[in-house]
Amino acid sequence: MSVGSIGRFERSFADWLGVDHAFAFWKGRVAMYAILKALDVGDGDEVILPGYTCVMDVNPIKYLGAKPVYVDIDPITYNLDVSLLEETITPQTKVIVAQHTYGYPCEMDAIMAIAARHDLPVVEDCCLALGSKYKGKTCGTFGAAAYWSFQWNKPFTTGIGGMATTHDPALAEKIRSHCHKELHRPGRKAAVMLSIQRMIYRLFIYPRTTALATSLFRWLTRKGLVVGSSSTCELVPEMAEDFFKGMGRGQARAGLRHVRKIEANLHHRREMARTYDRLLHEADWNVPPIPQSMEPVLVRYPVRVADKQRAVHEAPGAKVEIGTWFECPLHPIETPMHLYGYQDGMCPLAEKACREVVNLPTHPRANGKTARRSVAFITDIGKA
Ligand SMILES: Cc1ncc(COP(=O)(O)O)c(C=O)c1O
Repeated sequence: MSVGSIGRFERSFADWLGVDHAFAFWKGRVAMYAILKALDVGDGDEVILPGYTCVMDVNPIKYLGAKPVYVDIDPITYNLDVSLLEETITPQTKVIVAQHTYGYPCEMDAIMAIAARHDLPVVEDCCLALGSKYKGKTCGTFGAAAYWSFQWNKPFTTGIGGMATTHDPALAEKIRSHCHKELHRPGRKAAVMLSIQRMIYRLFIYPRTTALATSLFRWLTRKGLVVGSSSTCELVPEMAEDFFKGMGRGQARAGLRHVRKIEANLHHRREMARTYDRLLHEADWNVPPIPQSMEPVLVRYPVRVADKQRAVHEAPGAKVEIGTWFECPLHPIETPMHLYGYQDGMCPLAEKACREVVNLPTHPRANGKTARRSVAFITDIGKA
């Protein structure tokens, strides 16, 4: 039997990561849902994750009837603070989500040790951390499973898209079985729109044009004229009827092309991060030291600025590509946080980071000139 493009993308991604099983989905959040469901997360269970994330990462927990439990972050790596992890575990805890924020690996030794003591599975959120390593081992190979995103802003893009990976044959079988019974197929219209969007992205989106393109894209999404990464109905924890959707063939073909050039992508991102480090050092900016155990590949380069609002407001005029992740503990700022069990003050260091951090591009369309322009702009805004 011939294997189609989706199967080939799954196989090539699994081979690159060095795991046995990969399942491609419409989005990363769907991959997360598939994993949590296969781990039998359900009513009354608790799932631990950092209080510095995207609400799309919390929805799958709520869809399954479980309760998200937020842990504050380490202010340097933006990952969950492992010294706070154990005290959040209760008899209801079912899963720990280790989100490798911006690409900085979590303290996996400590997380795995705590999880083992409590007999809990760890699921790695690798949506921002393609190719990052902790003590020489690639993120996504530590826990019971991992999920990945191929949305526009992610390490590589299939337009939108996601993947679930695992080395555990029993878990893989459960994911396969749920997919077999319940997975929706993407409609033809969405697939065609997405392929046009990918073409536009390839031709026109560069660091100087990103701000304008993002505003236009958001407007078109609201009008239903493009396939948006998220819709306003995803700002309430109610699952859409066709949420559990697989990947389309066009997305998979785009994914296959990216996997072939993955090492060049990762190399470029490491180089960009080194350039930012150097330029910021030269500008007397205090760049926090990352533990030696971590070899991050940054999807975006985070910096704390004195006036985030001003930075975001003035960046388009200065032709600088500024990212706002994360605008609040459950990005974006429009999230009705009370519906997700988050109350102000729960994660003070995450809230501080939300007020201060902007992020700069490391993607293959950014280069040394992008870095110099961005750093000049940032240093003018001033440090937090
Ligand atoms: C940390 C993190 N995890 C998961 C997701 C969800 O990925 P996707 O947009 O592919 O569903 C996002 C955001 O988009 C994210 O920022």
